[in-house]
Amino acid sequence: DAYSLLILPGDGIGPEVMAEVVKVIDWFQANRGMSFDVAHGLVGGASYDAHGTPLTDETMARAQAVDAVLLGAVGGPKYDVLDFSVKPERGLLRLRKEMDLFANLRPAQCFDALADFSSLKREVVAGLDILIVRELTSGVYFGEPRGIHSDDNNPDNEGGRVGINTQRYTSGEIRRVARSAFELARKRGNKVCSMEKANVMESGILWREEVQWVHDNEYPDVELSHMYADNGAMQLVRAPRQFDVIVTDNLFGDILSDAAAMLTGSLGMLPSASLGAPMTNGRPKALYEPVHGSAPDIAGQGKANPIACILSFAMALRYSFNEGEAAETLERAVEKVLADGVRTADLMGPEGGTPVSTSQMGDRIIAALES
Ligand code: NAI
Ligand code: MG
Repeated sequence: DAYSLLILPGDGIGPEVMAEVVKVIDWFQANRGMSFDVAHGLVGGASYDAHGTPLTDETMARAQAVDAVLLGAVGGPKYDVLDFSVKPERGLLRLRKEMDLFANLRPAQCFDALADFSSLKREVVAGLDILIVRELTSGVYFGEPRGIHSDDNNPDNEGGRVGINTQRYTSGEIRRVARSAFELARKRGNKVCSMEKANVMESGILWREEVQWVHDNEYPDVELSHMYADNGAMQLVRAPRQFDVIVTDNLFGDILSDAAAMLTGSLGMLPSASLGAPMTNGRPKALYEPVHGSAPDIAGQGKANPIACILSFAMALRYSFNEGEAAETLERAVEKVLADGVRTADLMGPEGGTPVSTSQMGDRIIAALES
């Protein structure tokens, strides 16, 4: 049975890093007897340029039907002037919302070969293996009301405008992402740390109460702690190995996972998975994408690190296709290439050296798979 995949390379470096994933997919088809039914589509600015919308209904429908969607990145300065309703990000937000991908898994693992390149000392990050579970379909990025309005009745407001977003969470939204975190923790270090700002936010108080409720009623065997998200940011940098699974909301998760990126060396190393409810075939709806964006500053120059996107495909092998062994094979190949000193520009330390290009990195990983 073929695994169905929809590949959406997107904008900027998205197509460059995705080309290396396609090499990896071809390798697994040729050498591991796997069969992938691969379709390609447009998302973000690329889709806007072709169709006037960041995601067509046809592509949306296709995404709902496949076992897994692989996405590169969306956005770029060219599209910054567009109305919010057709901004590239809207394509991605629509995929997440309509597929109901409420649990965003962001692992932060420190590969030994890169421990000295982390922003932190080797003794702080060596062996680091944490998983941030970010709520992805609700919170302040979606809450209503939102908008920029005139504030004419307020004479004390210089400039006369007000910008509004709303942080809104239901108990059900909190409980289902908490369950995901507890389930994952049981397969790892059995520890969950929930992060919010219950000291200053009503939604934070509800978050803390509901996570505690799920713990007490369904997962009493898992160790649960709570932490204010600002302290969490500090602890992530001070002593990140104290954590196993971190569960947090959409906004805090966005920021904390970018901070976690620096623990592992580069944004170019960080994969992610976004999972929803199971489909009729039992597989969760799923979208895999690197954490990084479209990196317009290096787009088109062959400088992008394809590892985040390749490791995102490894997560697809593990979580969508139950091919854990293949996922490990791929992760070991990445580890070997790094141990051999192969580096894209973003992984060059102060000691310097000659970086490889995006496609050379892909070729080295294929060569490591061969060996
Ligand atoms: P970014 O992640 O694109 O880039 C941040 C910095 O990291 C840049 O200096 C970039 O060169 C570097 N970088 C990122 N990925 C890299 C890789 N694979 N290899 C080597 N270096 C890499 O974030 P930024 O600059 O804030 O946003 C650029 C555009 O991407 C914006 O339009 C933004 O909206 C969009 N974006 C899209 C995301 C997505 O598609 N999921 C996520 C974040 C930003
Ligand atoms: Mg971000």
